[in-house]
Amino acid sequence: MNRLRTAILISGRGSNMDALIEAARRPDYPAEIALVLSNRPDAPGLAKAKTAGVAAAAVDHKIYAGREEFERSLQLVLEAYRIDFICLAGFMRLFTPWFIEQWRGRMLNIHPALLPSYRGLHTHERALADGVKIHGCTVHFVVPEMDEGPIVAQAAVPVLDGDTPETLAARVLAQEHAIYPLALRLVASGVARIEGNRVLGALAASDARLLAPEGPA
Ligand code: GRF
Repeated sequence: MNRLRTAILISGRGSNMDALIEAARRPDYPAEIALVLSNRPDAPGLAKAKTAGVAAAAVDHKIYAGREEFERSLQLVLEAYRIDFICLAGFMRLFTPWFIEQWRGRMLNIHPALLPSYRGLHTHERALADGVKIHGCTVHFVVPEMDEGPIVAQAAVPVLDGDTPETLAARVLAQEHAIYPLALRLVASGVARIEGNRVLGALAASDARLLAPEGPA
């Protein structure tokens, strides 16, 4: 099987990264995690990637004059590792249209809300403030507009009376860890494909653990 050489881009703890690395250990998984790349040399996820036996590198955005210089370096590292596909997993830098164009149709992101609701930051706080009863997470292809792009997978969770942003975030995060590996599997295997602003062959789940063989037990 020709596995898709995938880089995971992180800025922090990397729990979604862990879930992707774990899923890709399966011999039948259609993607291999060939690199973990961070814009922060001190990101805790980098050490975890190394421990898991995955190549890990940092390109520190702070040493570059501008966004595009930083991205040119990222691009060089990605090319050096012969990367075909990118999964953003808590990567906290916005990209220029130039970088996004290099990876159009080949870059996924995970967002902790049911897009198109709650783009941007502090999604759990905002969902609680609005009193919504259903919240969740989304895996989508990256386009130049922030938190937009064809949706591959979504999972919903209930919002409970006693929830705080932290308890709600934890419930959503468990679903993130299930749907991201599943979404990458669907895309890397060619089952899911982009048509206009939709991804056909993709899925929705109220509990992704029921559907994701690679999700947490
Ligand atoms: C996740 O909630 C993800 O949805 C968002 O950033 C967070 C990253 O968490 N984009 P982790 O680093 O994967 O643990």
